Amino acid sequence: MIPVKAAVFVGPQEELEIRELQISSTPGSQEVLVKLAASGVCHSDLHALDGEWDTPAPLVLGHEGAGVVQAVGSEVSDLEPGDHVILSWTPSCGRCEFCVAGRPVLCQLANETAYQHVYFDGKPRLRDGEEDVKSFLAVGSFGEYAMVPASAAVKIRKDAPLAQASLVGCAVTTGIGAVVNTAQVEAGSTVLVVGCGGVGLNVVQGARLAGARQIIVADVSEEKLELGRTFGATHTINSREVDLVETVRQLTGGRGVDYAFEAIGLPFTIEACYEAIRRGGTAVVVGQVADGVKISIDPFVMSDQEKRLIGSNYGSSRQSIDFPKIIDLYMEGKIDLDSMVTDRIGLEGVNDAFARMRKGQGIRTVIEY
Ligand SMILES: NC(=O)c1ccc[n+]([C@@H]2O[C@H](COP(=O)([O-])OP(=O)(O)OC[C@H]3O[C@@H](n4cnc5c(N)ncnc54)[C@H](O)[C@@H]3O)[C@@H](O)[C@H]2O)c1
Ligand SMILES: [Zn+2]
Ligand SMILES: [Zn+2]
Repeated sequence: MIPVKAAVFVGPQEELEIRELQISSTPGSQEVLVKLAASGVCHSDLHALDGEWDTPAPLVLGHEGAGVVQAVGSEVSDLEPGDHVILSWTPSCGRCEFCVAGRPVLCQLANETAYQHVYFDGKPRLRDGEEDVKSFLAVGSFGEYAMVPASAAVKIRKDAPLAQASLVGCAVTTGIGAVVNTAQVEAGSTVLVVGCGGVGLNVVQGARLAGARQIIVADVSEEKLELGRTFGATHTINSREVDLVETVRQLTGGRGVDYAFEAIGLPFTIEACYEAIRRGGTAVVVGQVADGVKISIDPFVMSDQEKRLIGSNYGSSRQSIDFPKIIDLYMEGKIDLDSMVTDRIGLEGVNDAFARMRKGQGIRTVIEY
């Protein structure tokens, strides 16, 4: 066993506790031990921390990580110690109907295990003395080491900085993928993005990459709207000051946008996205709501106007293809990850990172180990 300093979730609304845990130094036959270099702090961690999602304790939070492979299991042939990897929070089994169909984010086994914060064998990997400690989404990137299924460690080029690379493990892939993979936005489209956080700004970058003609962003923070512009927005709406749907109509000649993306996780902004699309348009739910929240839409309008309301999980990504591709886009200067890292902290600063996120400050805080 080796010691792992980690930030442990002990219950809703409680501060994360920095503890020294233990992990085996020998991975299972199809697993990989990764020494984390960096982890982003995502709003999904905050949903868990705030008790909006039913999350078991004790558990190491964090799911947006990158690091260096320390050891590989006996059956792992495509990774070796020293490889740089981005961690995926949907380890795919490669065999279920969804994996075979090329939709690993829907993997049956991951849904039954990683989404319950345990590994494919149903067990956790971390210990606190005699007590088991779970890992958020079978990643737990708020710890110095993580054991992951081999499919959840995706090799990337070694010249990419790992702080920026960590963000590809969630926000960047989620945002760009929602545009490119899920909605498949065509060049010349009009796009609305509601919420300019780590995820929403990557939806903006994705829309720019896809060649969208008009990219309208909405947020309640002027600072975030300004950031939206630097990432490619053509128009901004402060939805605290003006009516969101009405303003989108004005900006699109009364028609509505071709595509709208919700990147907050609130019922009324999801409804607003649906209202803001044109006839035949597509609204994409990316933001994730608290357990039990429902939305209300008019199903007559849905059929009459052929409006589409779809969901996007992890940007419908195929991580082993998309992670290295997104890293190449960054290294070639086609997307910006540098300005997404607005704070760099040690693990001890993690509770302050959540305090900043609650106030809507900064884009991404990255923990560096
Ligand atoms: N679908 C997925 O696979 C997936 C993956 C990662 C994150 N998420 C979800 O995406 C959402 C966004 O995550 P994030 O990390 O970007 O969060 P974030 O906290 O960085 O950003 C949220 C943004 O929403 C803005 N906002 C808050 N209330 C608003 C309102 N009423 N109107 C307009 N803007 C408002 C904030 O100012 C902020 O800019 C979360 O719900 C998260 O759980 C989904
Ligand atoms: Zn599967
Ligand atoms: Zn996330």
